Amino acid sequence: MSFSRQSNDMNSWHLVGLVSSFPDISLGNGCKILPGCKTLGIPKPEHADQAKLNRLSDLNDQVLVFKYKGFIHAIDNQCPHSSFPLKQGNVFDIEDLGNSNGAGIRCFRHGWKFDLFTGNGDSGSHKLNLWDIELRDPPTRGSGEILSNADKEVWVKRPTKS
Ligand code: FES
Repeated sequence: MSFSRQSNDMNSWHLVGLVSSFPDISLGNGCKILPGCKTLGIPKPEHADQAKLNRLSDLNDQVLVFKYKGFIHAIDNQCPHSSFPLKQGNVFDIEDLGNSNGAGIRCFRHGWKFDLFTGNGDSGSHKLNLWDIELRDPPTRGSGEILSNADKEVWVKRPTKS
């Protein structure tokens, strides 16, 4: 796990890497998340002081970022059911309602499934927290030269309701 290099404001945007730094997990290893994901500790504001002391974060302060079929996803690493780390889960296709890009994640612990685009679960009222994502152009040099015209930076932000 690594830590975001962004800001003291725990509710702000955090740079987590370039799009190219995320291998598409749909292209191998049975859609296991673990090898292709980044897990970052971004403490909630109420946990910030404790996080500064021990440089470790609780599972409920972690965001899991990965790429699946060309889409970057950023979700809580903590399963909403019983707090198991979702980075040990599997991603799968959801093709209902005519959405060929639908995808979900299955928690390894009890097998519950969550939609990666809505957060809705298949059991009970538990809902997965989806982080906000922005893909931004990388910084330019003084001349305005674009360092890369193909790659983007991935920025994530904790949803305000979590
Ligand atoms: S902890 Fe994830 S389904 Fe139970």
